[in-house]
Amino acid sequence: MTTVRGKFISLEGGEGAGKSTLLAGLRECIEGHGIELVLTREPGGTGIGEAVRSIVLDPLHHGLAAETELLLMFASRSQLVREVIEPALRAGRWVLCDRYVDASYAYQGGGRGQPVERIAELERWACDGVQPELTLLLDLPVAVGRARAAGRGDADRIEVEADAFFERVRASYRERAAAEPGRFRVIDASQTPAAVLLAATRALTPLFGEAPR
Ligand code: TMP
Repeated sequence: MTTVRGKFISLEGGEGAGKSTLLAGLRECIEGHGIELVLTREPGGTGIGEAVRSIVLDPLHHGLAAETELLLMFASRSQLVREVIEPALRAGRWVLCDRYVDASYAYQGGGRGQPVERIAELERWACDGVQPELTLLLDLPVAVGRARAAGRGDADRIEVEADAFFERVRASYRERAAAEPGRFRVIDASQTPAAVLLAATRALTPLFGEAPR
């Protein structure tokens, strides 16, 4: 019997958009359908990726060049694709990833001004054709997200960026979503957590239709 390949879903959004709350709700929803789920994150998700995460997010590393940051994000991703995502999908599990390649286009491309062609080349190399079926984008005005995130303790190296940086990140995410409406679902993250979860589970419905029960 051939195993049906699992589904790959990524979750994106700016600061304070409510990704963590939504991830917990989505996990419950997907597992409630009897589907084995691998929940992972970027940068990170593997031993090597988590080590990379601590390098890129450490506020002490303020001298990190934009090019180095971009390469480190893709180094983490390359490992995650090979060690976690592709094997899980091949085994029929679903993968829900807290950020994926769109984050590099938004943060390193939009935010830091790295050329899109450079990111696309790294994507071809690191992702090996592994793309989400569905990308949920939690969209929120920058000021609202920053106000929500303000009480969370020490900011990491990226969170200390100026509002203008996060405006570029948001614009870049929205442009990508508009360019690929078949893959993206943009969710208004200023709604209540329950309304956000409802919108997200609705977006997942077509995927369940094809899943083995
Ligand atoms: P978070 O996943 O806890 O929100 O933190 C990860 C941070 O790393 C967040 O500020 C976004 C940033 N990031 C990038 O800049 N590029 C990337 O490719 C990824 C995956 C994350």
